[in-house]
Amino acid sequence: MLARDALVALLLLTGFQTLYAVENLPVRVVKERKPCSGGCGRRGHCNYEEGRCECPWGYIGPSCEVDRMAVCRQTPDDPGSCGFIMPKNCECYRECFRLYCRYGTDTNKCANQMWGADAFDASCWLYGSEDRGPATDRPQDSSLYPKNPEQETVWFGRIPEMIGGTNYSGEELKLEDPGRRYKSPWDRPWLVWHRADNIAKPLSMCNNTCANGRGFCIQRPGSLEPECSCHFGFKGPDCSEEDPTTCWFSPTCSGRGQCRSGFCHCHDGSWGWGCHRSVAYHPATPGAVPDVRSKARLKIYIYELPWEIAFPFEVQEEIHSRDNIYTGYEQFMRYFLMDDSVRTENPYEANLFYVPALAYFYAENVRNSQWQIKAVIDHIRQQWPFYNRSGGRDHFVFMPGDRASCHSDRWLQDEIIKVVHFGMQKKNLTWLGIENKDYGCIQTKRDLVVPSRSVNTGPLLPNTTTSYYQWLVANRGYDGNRTLLFFFAGGIADGEYSGGVRLAIKLLLQNLTSPPPDVKFFEGSIGDRYHDLLQTCKFCIAPYGHGWGIRLVHAVHFGCIPVIIQDNVYQPFEDFLPYEEFSVRMRLADVPHMVELLRTYTEDQLAKLRLGLVKYYRAFIWEREFDGLAYEWTLAGLQRRAYHLDGEYFH
Ligand SMILES: *[C@@H]1O[C@H](CO)[C@@H](O)[C@H](O)[C@H]1NC(C)=O
Ligand SMILES: *[C@@H]1O[C@H](CO)[C@@H](O)[C@H](O)[C@H]1NC(C)=O
Ligand SMILES: *[C@@H]1O[C@H](CO)[C@@H](O)[C@H](O)[C@H]1NC(C)=O
Ligand SMILES: *[C@@H]1O[C@H](CO)[C@@H](O)[C@H](O)[C@H]1NC(C)=O
Ligand SMILES: *[C@@H]1O[C@H](CO)[C@@H](O)[C@H](O)[C@H]1NC(C)=O
Ligand SMILES: *[C@@H]1O[C@H](CO)[C@@H](O)[C@H](O)[C@H]1NC(C)=O
Ligand SMILES: *[C@@H]1O[C@H](CO)[C@@H](O)[C@H](O)[C@H]1NC(C)=O
Repeated sequence: MLARDALVALLLLTGFQTLYAVENLPVRVVKERKPCSGGCGRRGHCNYEEGRCECPWGYIGPSCEVDRMAVCRQTPDDPGSCGFIMPKNCECYRECFRLYCRYGTDTNKCANQMWGADAFDASCWLYGSEDRGPATDRPQDSSLYPKNPEQETVWFGRIPEMIGGTNYSGEELKLEDPGRRYKSPWDRPWLVWHRADNIAKPLSMCNNTCANGRGFCIQRPGSLEPECSCHFGFKGPDCSEEDPTTCWFSPTCSGRGQCRSGFCHCHDGSWGWGCHRSVAYHPATPGAVPDVRSKARLKIYIYELPWEIAFPFEVQEEIHSRDNIYTGYEQFMRYFLMDDSVRTENPYEANLFYVPALAYFYAENVRNSQWQIKAVIDHIRQQWPFYNRSGGRDHFVFMPGDRASCHSDRWLQDEIIKVVHFGMQKKNLTWLGIENKDYGCIQTKRDLVVPSRSVNTGPLLPNTTTSYYQWLVANRGYDGNRTLLFFFAGGIADGEYSGGVRLAIKLLLQNLTSPPPDVKFFEGSIGDRYHDLLQTCKFCIAPYGHGWGIRLVHAVHFGCIPVIIQDNVYQPFEDFLPYEEFSVRMRLADVPHMVELLRTYTEDQLAKLRLGLVKYYRAFIWEREFDGLAYEWTLAGLQRRAYHLDGEYFH
């Protein structure tokens, strides 16, 4: 002991400040910065761990000098995107295809699922003319609409890669319906919910050329003149204002940089999505993988990923917001980047590794995010030794989609820890696209189920939750306002939806000759009434839906005792959260008797369950401004996974 301490002291005295020791473990890791090329700071910033210049979306090269996505921009000021609101130069879509579809021409395997089947129908153009074809004298180097689009463009219905080709000669590439020229590729009648039937116009027709291309110029149906639709990161009528909140995970860039178009441009010395990094660690012996992990403290290392691998891009141009119920993992990321006690910059001391694949940005709610996750894993396996060391078992990834990990191939199911909202355990599921038959969507000792977020607007904001629970404590759990027995309101759909629970309740109540007046059941949305029922019912029914359900979270936010009817579905934190203290669990088979069963609870028992909610409701709230502790509970769950790993409970 003494000898090593003396050595450290000596080295420090002699100026070797780069030496680093983890608590009482031997010195095998050093602080050491790998420099980047000189011009890196102009457009990007140096990641001193990798010696890689971190660039904004679209730029690559040692100093971000190569504009890989130039053809997706209208002007050099256009941040560019692969979105579909406005038809772009077909060469842009080809570049996007190369970016996202690494695993061959099967568009189901594109990392960005927008590039799957939907992109197949995207209309795009080249400079040229319908008579003479693509221009040979004008480079296809931008998506700037020409002054006279009618005479200067030739239109296509798809790009060559999508038919396995390499050029535009194939007749099947032509845009068949001339009515779709200049119109959004989303303008398809069958895309009812995000139909965008606007028409693209040259930038010069919009005010201030939309601040030189920070938006695009479109004519919306029914409006008299074209208007700017701003790119992600910009706002105002001509898109001249910058919007810093678009750096999702750190709107302030930790005070060490500036947010531009979703990219934190960090001051020299800081790097990462939120400029949260500033120290780089390397093995004292090059090539070694020193193991300086401590059992005493949970330490998590987050990989920094280049934009080509993962970036919170606009899922669909113009539609900048995501459905809030899917953003629990964004909240986790925000808190994690600020959490200097658990987050470590030294991967050699990490117990767990955070793989920020941003699955939702690539696959949204119902698509299969495994191709994006695979792309990220392939990348980190090449760049770092840690994934191979454990076979991915000490790595975790968030999969917030409806059916989350259920769609994953077996290798992904078995390797990485998946943090999901849906803990389906049933084996041999017959759902479409679910290959794994040997176990359900997750393995409970390895994967972690966490609550989803609620919403951040309107009456379902959990901003009154704490005051209600304080009142409840003062009333020893009794709430005389809760006079109704239970309610449910929402979609019903067929048997597979919610495992048949919603339909069973509907049939049960239809069957009764006189439905009980204290039971409320509504098919579909009921607006603000939903909020009122959460406050006046004793019980709130929490089935799942297509995948995970939000109703458990809603019930807990409002002090309504959840009745969880989800056969085979493991609930958030279920292995260490005592659900029996605050909820009622029923089987689908119990539904025919549920009214009688729920009536057997006495007022005292209900009060006791509500006091159970008082103890645990904060596990179901993400936002700290509403007293949420879901981040801390998630960390506790991850720590337990690390413990299970050491228990050899999963392989
Ligand atoms: C264009 O692609 C087709 C097949 O898709 C091929 O037969 C043809 O030779 C190509 N033309 C040129 C000029 O490369
Ligand atoms: C364009 O600018 C003019 C003058 O400022 C303004 O009156 C008009 O409303 C603007 N048009 C749009 C679509 O913003
Ligand atoms: C990890 O394993 C993969 C597949 O065997 C390999 O391609 C990769 O180079 C390995 N990574 C490292 C850092 O050795
Ligand atoms: C899975 O279900 C199919 C029928 O849907 C059945 O034939 C098969 O034996 C089942 N496999 C297992 C492992 O239960
Ligand atoms: C909670 O949020 C709602 C919706 O934004 C708002 O109307 C209400 O005043 C808020 N309540 C409190 C106590 O802040
Ligand atoms: C109970 O209902 C009364 C009357 O509507 C209301 O004033 C009171 O705030 C309610 N109590 C709680 C805890 O919601
Ligand atoms: C509804 O009534 C029918 C006919 O009596 C019966 O077969 C069915 O099981 C009942 N359904 C429920 C959900 O009670």
